[in-house]
Amino acid sequence: MEFSYSREQEMVKKMLKEFAETEIEPIAEEMDAEAAYPYETVAKLGKLGVMGMPFPAEYGGAGADYLTYIMAVEEISKVCASHGVIVQTHNALCCWPIFTYGTEEQKRKYLPKLLSGEHLGAFGLTEPNAGTDAAMQQTTAKDMGDHWLLNGSKIFISGGGIADVYVVMAMTDKSKGNKGISSFIVEKGMPGFSRGKKENKMGIRGSIAAELVFEDCVVPKENLLGPLGKGFKVAMSSLDVGRLGIAAQALGLAQGAFDQTVDYMKQRKQFGRSLNKFQALAFEMANMKTEIDAARFVLYNAANRRDRGLSSTVEAAQAKLKCSEVASYVVDKAVQFHGGYGYIKDYPVERMYRDQKITEIYEGTSEVMKMVISGDIFK
Ligand code: CAA
Repeated sequence: MEFSYSREQEMVKKMLKEFAETEIEPIAEEMDAEAAYPYETVAKLGKLGVMGMPFPAEYGGAGADYLTYIMAVEEISKVCASHGVIVQTHNALCCWPIFTYGTEEQKRKYLPKLLSGEHLGAFGLTEPNAGTDAAMQQTTAKDMGDHWLLNGSKIFISGGGIADVYVVMAMTDKSKGNKGISSFIVEKGMPGFSRGKKENKMGIRGSIAAELVFEDCVVPKENLLGPLGKGFKVAMSSLDVGRLGIAAQALGLAQGAFDQTVDYMKQRKQFGRSLNKFQALAFEMANMKTEIDAARFVLYNAANRRDRGLSSTVEAAQAKLKCSEVASYVVDKAVQFHGGYGYIKDYPVERMYRDQKITEIYEGTSEVMKMVISGDIFK
């Protein structure tokens, strides 16, 4: 594994650090308070190439590798985890399956607008009775000869109602279990497709999560994505990419909260000296830094394996598990070291504390990550 950054990676990091600090950080607090989707900054991220980062220029992508992509999500998430997940869901869970499983016609039709950020993409897997047990899909897709008819609902869908293009999993043959699941490209505005309840979330409030409702939804025949009955594999392999991005989001949150705490400790004085002069606190900061750096190595190794074309399912699960647990530890200490100021909304660590929790839940809970990792150990 390479431990030095390429010139391109250094440039992307610098560009996104500047963008995040000048364009995203100033709106993060208001966006969180109002649970408002950040249309303007997402459009600007599109112009910077971030909404199609790890895809070839041939389809309108930025042609970056996965390591550069996760460094970008990390940089953005240092100041705002909502922006981090918007970038991540769009790239990994909508653009990636269309790029990987789509026909040439589907790629030419959908990717240019998705990769430029003109269109936003989303992923419809989770249902009321199919969360961790994702194979228990109850949404059905019936072959009507010249089109598909989708019926059912999806919940907690990031970008639900906002996105233009959705990769949706549905049962085409219930008797075959997970091999009866197929995936489809569904567009906003297709007849019978609507947004249901919008969730009022604890954190990442700028990223909208909503229910999707399919009532005799008519989907063109050619919008089947990948082979019939392979939808579960489409979903699981997309989540392998997604989990790298959520790990990057968690790592960014941890680094962001850590940086805020360093600044706070240097300026906050109690008992006549600044907080960093108290050895118990300074030593805990040493532990936090070591954990963040260790998590970064686990994540960059997983991304590097994907870039080298090696299997990375287990490494992505390890990265998500490690980065989200480190983020939990760091944001907790960050609030603690800010004292009462950490518990009020004047300081970003309060938002970071709420934003972090979901990184241990979505795109597979920590328990699912342990299922994937232990399954490999004892296979
Ligand atoms: N890539 C390709 N294929 C895979 C795969 C992967 N990573 N993982 C499993 N498969 C295949 C298996 O090889 C197997 O195929 P065969 O039957 O041909 O051998 C098939 O899928 C079934 O595998 P399992 O028996 O392991 O499946 P399972 O039903 O026991 O489920 C699970 C395993 C790991 C628990 C899985 O259901 C899972 O990951 N659940 C969590 C779901 C999840 O992450 N949801 C997130 C929703 S999206 C989201 O959160 C987005 C957001 O808001 C931002």
